[in-house]
Amino acid sequence: MSKVLYLKGSPRDRSHSTAVAEAFIDSYKQKNPDDEIKVLNVFEKKLPAFDGFIINAKYNIMHGNDHSDAEKNAWKEVEEIIEEFKSADKYIISTGMWNFGIPYRLKQYIDIITQPGYTFSFSPEEGYSGLITGKPIFISYARGGEYPPGTDAENMDFQKRYLDFLLGFIGFTDIKSVVIEPTLTDQAQKKREEAIEKAKEIAKSF
Ligand SMILES: Cc1cc2nc3c(=O)[nH]c(=O)nc-3n(C[C@H](O)[C@H](O)[C@H](O)COP(=O)(O)O)c2cc1C
Repeated sequence: MSKVLYLKGSPRDRSHSTAVAEAFIDSYKQKNPDDEIKVLNVFEKKLPAFDGFIINAKYNIMHGNDHSDAEKNAWKEVEEIIEEFKSADKYIISTGMWNFGIPYRLKQYIDIITQPGYTFSFSPEEGYSGLITGKPIFISYARGGEYPPGTDAENMDFQKRYLDFLLGFIGFTDIKSVVIEPTLTDQAQKKREEAIEKAKEIAKSF
């Protein structure tokens, strides 16, 4: 039995990326009825602010320096979120494009889990290595405009290009995705249905 972690990155009830991820999950469940699907809504989950206090706590603890109970507890909260992430066997993310990138709560989640020694490592000899290996991930990306590969608009896409890069950085190599665009036009419904069909196909062998 596999554990699938679904990071829900859009807060909108009428979200296109959520609709596609949910169709993916329905199709996946038909083939894998015993698998556990855990939904982590990044807009609802309590995420600690990744601020100066927590960065100091991290360095004090990692370098074996004196630290307060408050620092210890704060870093433990981060570790628990990382552990929850790492404990999954497979991953799904849905996200809209916000200001050409990803919504701030999804970015906050990424800033919490992307930590040396936990999700990536560094050594002068080997450079950076991702530690989340051998696990597949599916992402549904929605955006109001169009950013097709090979066009000038692609350079404005800091959503898919960033997330694909970051996931590769922490070790993912089996990254599959669908894009729903342009959602702020009358083509939205048709594009969403096409993306749902693609997502269902990918889910069959996920
Ligand atoms: C705060 C905010 C910022 C947005 N910024 C962009 C943007 O930079 N480029 C774009 O093409 N669409 C932008 N949009 C439109 C969304 O990408 C579009 O509505 C998409 O469908 C959102 O994903 P969802 O349907 O899964 O919620 C923005 C929407 C919101 C709410």
